[in-house]
Amino acid sequence: MKFKKIAITTALAGLFATTGVQAEITLRHAIQGTVLDLSFAKKGGNTPAFKEFMQTGKNPYNTDKEAIEHGESLYMTGCSGCHGHEAEGKLGPGLADDYWTYPSIATDKGLFELLFGGAKGMMGPQYVNFNTDEMLKIMAWIRSIYTGKPKKAKWLK
Ligand code: HEC
Repeated sequence: MKFKKIAITTALAGLFATTGVQAEITLRHAIQGTVLDLSFAKKGGNTPAFKEFMQTGKNPYNTDKEAIEHGESLYMTGCSGCHGHEAEGKLGPGLADDYWTYPSIATDKGLFELLFGGAKGMMGPQYVNFNTDEMLKIMAWIRSIYTGKPKKAKWLK
C-alpha cells in the first residue's frame, strides 16, 4: 500500500516537472466542476503567456494585436463553422455579446475552462484541436470583438 502511494506521488511530481507549470489557479470543467487534466494538452502550448495565465487567471494576449490577429485565423478554422464568422451565433451561441449561457465566460479563467474542457453536445473539448497558447489567442480575439456592456466585461477588472 505504502509503495503504491509513493509511486503515485512520484508520477505526479514527474508530470508537473515535464509540463513546467507552477499553477496558482485551479482550472475546472465548466459543467462537471472536476479539475481539468492539462496532461491532455497538445504540445507547444506551454508558452510564457500561458504560464502567466496559470499564475493570474488573466489572458496576457487581450491587448496584443499580433496575438489577436493570429487568434482570428485560428477561430476561422476551428470555431466559425458553428459560431459564425463574426461570432454572431449559428449552431452554437453568439460569442460577441454579453449574454452567456455560462456566466463564468465573463472571466478569462471561465472562458479558458469552457474551451479546454468543452460544454454540452456539439461543444466538445478543444484541447483536441488547439494547444493552450492557441486557445488564449482565440480568446483574445473573442474579447476584441465584444459588443456588450463594458460593466459586464469582468475580464477587464
Ligand atoms: C461542432 C460545433 C462547435 C464547434 C466547432 C465549437 N463550438 Fe462552441 N459551442 C457549440 C455549441 C452547440 C455550444 C452550446 C453548448 C452548451 O450550451 O453547453 C457551444 C458553446 C460555446 C461557448 C459557451 C457560450 C456561452 O454562451 O456560455 C463558448 C465560449 C464557445 N462555444 C466557444 C467556442 C470556440 C472559441 C470554439 C473554437 C475553438 C468553439 N466554441 C467550437 C458548438 C461548437
